[in-house]
Amino acid sequence: MKQDKTIVIRPSRETDVDAMLTIYRRHIRHGIEDGVDDGDTPQPDDLRERRKNLKDRRFPHVVAIEGDKVVGYAYAVLFRKRPAYRYTVKHSIYVHHDHVGQGVGSLLMRGLIDACAAAGFRQMIGYIDADNAASLALHERFGFVRVGLLPAVAYRYGRWADTVMVQRSLGPGSTTQPPQPPLSRR
Ligand SMILES: CC(C)(COP(=O)(O)OP(=O)(O)OC[C@H]1O[C@@H](n2cnc3c(N)ncnc32)[C@H](O)[C@@H]1OP(=O)(O)O)[C@@H](O)C(=O)NCCC(=O)NCCS
Repeated sequence: MKQDKTIVIRPSRETDVDAMLTIYRRHIRHGIEDGVDDGDTPQPDDLRERRKNLKDRRFPHVVAIEGDKVVGYAYAVLFRKRPAYRYTVKHSIYVHHDHVGQGVGSLLMRGLIDACAAAGFRQMIGYIDADNAASLALHERFGFVRVGLLPAVAYRYGRWADTVMVQRSLGPGSTTQPPQPPLSRR
């Protein structure tokens, strides 16, 4: 991993939304993350709304900044909405296509893990396309363990593709009881 320039990880701001959308759309069009643009990609207002909702509910939503440019972003949402799952998040992470392979994803991952742990979450789950070598390597580096394989759940570029499910614990994980009062009622 090379890291020549200074990258700052900070909570995202409303003014970052357009840059985040540019990064996301490029990966949809060219990447293996989604691979299919069904004409239903989020609009700036969708992303703005999602970011605001997450922020209001104190879910981490961070950007990587180089100079004054957004070169990546990452966020976590609840794994499932039912109350029993309130200590478990699933996450997404995207790096600008000109900046992949330079350590930005690792910085974002570190920032997101720390923010999720600090917010009291105990487990973090990722779904990764089985062909996404960069994402598999990134997650392995941060201690995520493969906990499942979902065969042939995606269809793109003329073939069925598997999804790998990865997980790691945060903070004390399952070694202690959750805090009182529960996160959801704070
Ligand atoms: C996946 C992604 C976030 C990784 O971010 P990145 O900035 O390129 O990753 P880093 O440079 O921090 O590298 C992290 C690790 O992955 C490895 N890696 C990076 N690109 C790789 C590749 N193409 N093949 C294999 N390993 C790779 C690095 O060597 C590094 O491991 P190391 O520190 O042990 O050497 C980025 O490629 C991306 O945004 N991809 C498109 C969107 C996406 O797939 N998101 C993830 C959805 S689950």
